[in-house]
Amino acid sequence: MNEKEKTILLSVPNISGNELKYVKECLETGWISSAGSYVDKFEQMVADYAGAKYGIATMNGTAALHIALLLAGVKPKDYVIVSNMTFVASANSIKYTGADPILIDADPKTWQMDLDLLDEFLDNKTSINSEGERILNTDGRCVKTIMPVHIQGNIFDIDRFKFICKKYNMSFVEDAAEALGSKYKGQSAGTFNKLGVFSFNGNKIISTGGGGVIVTNDKLLAKKAKHLTTTAKVDPMLYYHDEVGYNYRLVNVLAAIGVAQMEQLPSFVKKKQYIGNYYREHLLGVGDIEFQHVNNEVEHNDWLFTIKTKYQKELLKYLNANKVMSRPFWMPMNQLPMYKNCHYITKTDNCKKIHDSCLSIPCSTSITEEDLKKVVETIKKFYITCT
Ligand SMILES: Cc1ncc(COP(=O)(O)O)c(C=O)c1O
Repeated sequence: MNEKEKTILLSVPNISGNELKYVKECLETGWISSAGSYVDKFEQMVADYAGAKYGIATMNGTAALHIALLLAGVKPKDYVIVSNMTFVASANSIKYTGADPILIDADPKTWQMDLDLLDEFLDNKTSINSEGERILNTDGRCVKTIMPVHIQGNIFDIDRFKFICKKYNMSFVEDAAEALGSKYKGQSAGTFNKLGVFSFNGNKIISTGGGGVIVTNDKLLAKKAKHLTTTAKVDPMLYYHDEVGYNYRLVNVLAAIGVAQMEQLPSFVKKKQYIGNYYREHLLGVGDIEFQHVNNEVEHNDWLFTIKTKYQKELLKYLNANKVMSRPFWMPMNQLPMYKNCHYITKTDNCKKIHDSCLSIPCSTSITEEDLKKVVETIKKFYITCT
């Protein structure tokens, strides 16, 4: 290995469009803070791309999830059902409302929430109380809503999920943080119910440095989301705030980056899918490597390419030592100290297996053919020399 060789990074922002131009404009005009035309423009661009009527920008995806849950009526002491295999922000946003997560194990193939377990849980462990609310039988607390997470940008069987929701009269709030550009039967992630959330942190398909957007088709929810994310100010002159709001808005200078990034999103999605297809073609049959299963109805944005192998720990070490950045999956929520006592609905703890055997490999939208070739060659070399 050449010492001077650069590490191939995992998933970094691609700043190659009008970012500088738009930011410069903000700086030159002084519109850097919480008001400015780029915020409105960014919100509309994200909403239009997703096929939703309204977008409400926030300072990050976690804040967007928090607000979306409040809009879904989640209250202290409620429960929210969520995928156990997720980034910690999904569960944290539930805790911010004062509710507790109920964790559902993952499907071993798609790594998304296991719908059999969800159905069984709602059927066997919950019922309807006299006020018409769904409650957990053991303690009578309200099971308010469900937060499916489109993990790695993949999407589970939405038709079946909606059927289950209807059967038990449950709403849902989508954590589509990773899924901008993914579709199910032609419909964009984040728009399958009333509220969906995207994230624009540094490793996402587009980035504003830090940012999020709530999408909805509901005018009232959109209005309320804007109100809550902007300190619940009723009168801009009088500083009259009619409830405890949040200062969660995205600032104009970051929205300017977002507009430039949105202009490039279609090409970024194509590049991510190209990278995904490249790896699926060149790593097929290499060692014991398996890929995430994608249902036929899903158009996957291939946000963060991840492989499964029983040699996860060894391969991680080998790739990082050979300047190919690689990372394991997040630790499942039930393994984190603050969530370990939550209800965890599982039979065989697939999340542990996924966590112990999956690793993500470089897939930045700026990655070169040469780098892709090197990643594949390094992985092949590992299997020849180390297993
Ligand atoms: C699944 C998931 N949910 C929520 C978030 C939170 O988004 P943010 O980092 O923008 O707060 C992220 C990303 O970081 C995520 O991957």
